[in-house]
Amino acid sequence: MIRGKRILLGICGSIAAYKAPHFVRLLKKEGAEVQCILTPDAHLFVTPTSLATVSQLPCLSEFTHSEDGTWNNHVALAEWADVFIIAPASANTLAKMATGRCDNLLLATYLSAKCPVFFAPAMDLDMYRHPTTLTNIQTLQSFGNTLLEPGTGFLASGLEGKGRMMEPEEMVEGLKSHFELAQSLNGKHWLVTAGPTYENIDPVRFIGNYSSGKMGFAIAEALAHSGATVTLVSGPTSLQIHHPNIQILRVTSALQMLEACLSVFPHVHGVVKAAAVADYRPETMATEKIKKSSEELTIQLVKNPDILAILGQQKTHQKIIGFALETNNELEHAKQKRLKKNADAIVLNSLNDEGAGFQTDTNRVHWVTENGCESWPLLPKEEVAKLIVQKIVSL
Ligand code: C5P
Repeated sequence: MIRGKRILLGICGSIAAYKAPHFVRLLKKEGAEVQCILTPDAHLFVTPTSLATVSQLPCLSEFTHSEDGTWNNHVALAEWADVFIIAPASANTLAKMATGRCDNLLLATYLSAKCPVFFAPAMDLDMYRHPTTLTNIQTLQSFGNTLLEPGTGFLASGLEGKGRMMEPEEMVEGLKSHFELAQSLNGKHWLVTAGPTYENIDPVRFIGNYSSGKMGFAIAEALAHSGATVTLVSGPTSLQIHHPNIQILRVTSALQMLEACLSVFPHVHGVVKAAAVADYRPETMATEKIKKSSEELTIQLVKNPDILAILGQQKTHQKIIGFALETNNELEHAKQKRLKKNADAIVLNSLNDEGAGFQTDTNRVHWVTENGCESWPLLPKEEVAKLIVQKIVSL
């Protein structure tokens, strides 16, 4: 899986940098091309000569070559890479990556990178568990970067705890699974819905809900990163898509969402319905703004079509993943919903779980299929999306 892949390895000033030549060696043995970039302080822990020798490419560190002043083109470096892995990632570099600082070649390359980025923190346990470091890590994950979780054990300080860089062998395995997953949905077309729907009352008012669209957008991105072509039907949200293989159809109401979904459903291999569709809409929309004349105002609502259930009835070969947001007797309701809507899986989140559901950057979900229920920890929505895609691949 790694053979022929171009791996950009960013190395920061952390004692774990002494393992970098070994990591490069393992990647080279697997047949990868490896280009190393050092931060200025990484030189204290590992030499460019060692890295250049094992990688068989000059090791880069400065914006320009000292001899002739020519430019180390960080944009071209970023374009060259299939993945960018920053290992070890120091607390300082994580903070700079999270805030967009750009005062060395590694950071400029990171800002230019459109390829998947992995980072393997390595630092002392108190630095690692400091709220700023944990917040920076979460921010980086919310940008779609993948955390290579540090291990627990002896640290260079003499203390014991969490902060050891993931072992090079484990990182190689992680990259192998990444490349495997990245091709796993090649040639597949998936439909994803996201966001709320707005049901118009009059030209300036609507019935809506608090859905941000983050979960659905993250799923669309994760599917595209696995090789799929994605049609994303989104209700009103200010979120933007990044991956070129995602086509976005922006809609407002449930009826428009239904129409957009029906137009692509026959051609797709599967659908993930993460949208929070309004169950009811005003029977009629007033053509003029409703004046506040009487003490009471009654708006007659009619039921919206259940898009998921309609797709479930129409499905031939498609896999269908629905969402369920429940407040009580959650698992039982999710199991019933899966059967009623003819879905292959339901992603269940409960409003009783802190950090889960609407408007948050994190989610705690349960994956419910005919085989039972698998519960995942509280994770950034991007990470939840990756797990959902792994499940989709195994479906
Ligand atoms: O029945 P309930 O609204 O709880 O089910 C949630 C699931 O059904 C979500 O996947 C949502 O996108 C979908 N749904 C839909 N059309 C509706 C209501 C919900 O597709 N009118």
